[in-house]
Amino acid sequence: MEILIRDTPEAGAKVGASVVRKIIQTKDKPVLGLATGGTPLRMYKVLIRMNQSGELSFRNCTTFNLDEYGGLPPENKRSYHYYMMSNFFDHTDIDKKNVHLPDGYAEDLRETCRKYENLINDAGGIDLQVLGIGANGHIGFNEPTGSFASRTWVKILSKQTIQDNSIYFDKLEEVPRHVVTMGIATIMESRHCLLMANGAKKADAIRKMIEGPVSASCPASILQMHPRVTIVLDEEASYLLTFKDHYKWVEKNKLDWQLY
Ligand code: GLP
Repeated sequence: MEILIRDTPEAGAKVGASVVRKIIQTKDKPVLGLATGGTPLRMYKVLIRMNQSGELSFRNCTTFNLDEYGGLPPENKRSYHYYMMSNFFDHTDIDKKNVHLPDGYAEDLRETCRKYENLINDAGGIDLQVLGIGANGHIGFNEPTGSFASRTWVKILSKQTIQDNSIYFDKLEEVPRHVVTMGIATIMESRHCLLMANGAKKADAIRKMIEGPVSASCPASILQMHPRVTIVLDEEASYLLTFKDHYKWVEKNKLDWQLY
């Protein structure tokens, strides 16, 4: 795991954007896996600036989002469709026909999930998967104890995630109970993962993910088995790491081409 620690979330967002830029600049038809939540918002702002200044184009990109709430139409302001359009896609030159999100509002959710897996395969797989992490160690909406072999499917949120995500809704009761998410196996097939986390609330999950045993009790810990993962943390999210000094030492001694 490549662990990059920065003083502030803003500095982390710039690193995240540089990782995305590098992938886009080295591939003819980059396929990006994208995430929602509060964490990647700053990175999307940096990417929008790069796009609007002419430094970076998303015209050749195809995107697949990680997850979506069940039962919310795309125009609902709490849906991840709405989030992605309003916080990112609408401000870039991306061709919207290459943008994909799971359809949590579909009548046949099982069919939606199967189709989503096929679409990812047809695009040639995901080059870079952007990830956040839940306070309980979830990635996408894969909650603790879910199978590491899971594919895109319908999942039920834990009470903790419903509570955590209720800040984005008017009332706790409005948070959907069911969701559609890429599975852990789907995420693990992407060629490179970029996980970002900020704040002390994430510190325990970060410690378990990086230094704990690989266990379905912390779904993100499976990333220890992925050959190419970049983790960008602010100081607060990294404060429980036993080997924090070592991660900083490693970064300081990297070769030029290994830096972002
Ligand atoms: C949601 C999303 C996850 C995200 C997590 C953390 O549950 N499904 O993909 O990583 O929230 O969100 P935040 O960045 O707001 O802390």
